[in-house]
Amino acid sequence: MRRIVFSVLALAGLAAPAHAAGDADAGKALFSQKCGICHAPVEGQNKIGPSLWGVVGRKAGTLLTYTYSDAMKNANRTWDQATLDDYLIAPRQKIPGVKMIFAGLPEESDRQNVIAYLATLK
Ligand code: HEC
Repeated sequence: MRRIVFSVLALAGLAAPAHAAGDADAGKALFSQKCGICHAPVEGQNKIGPSLWGVVGRKAGTLLTYTYSDAMKNANRTWDQATLDDYLIAPRQKIPGVKMIFAGLPEESDRQNVIAYLATLK
């Protein structure tokens, strides 16, 4: 009995952080691999895509130093956990007309990890 209680507690302990949010370290590696060609995680540094410094909390398409598509300018959403998760599944289907040529991240854990990393860019 004692052993069962212990295992349940151990499992709960392990599961809690993963459930609460993604893993920012794993997200950083994934960012370098999947997003880094087009996005810098650095303030003011635009590449093919806009800088993603401070993207969490930013209104879509509003970085003044970057030239967005009309689709992104008119997306009328603020980037947060939910809107990023939705967008990153399949960017060009979620906001038709955006010029981000990226198929998307179909794995929920990948999206959560990348979003956890994006949230550290501030
Ligand atoms: C092939 C280049 C490319 C790749 C790869 C790419 N993006 Fe983008 N991204 C863009 C471009 C270009 C835009 C601007 C879209 C527009 O204006 O229509 C953009 C826009 C965005 C925006 C909106 C930013 C804003 O200021 O509103 C987010 C968020 C974003 N990308 C996240 C990501 C993430 C996270 C990844 C990796 C999982 C990624 N992108 C991979 C090119 C890319």
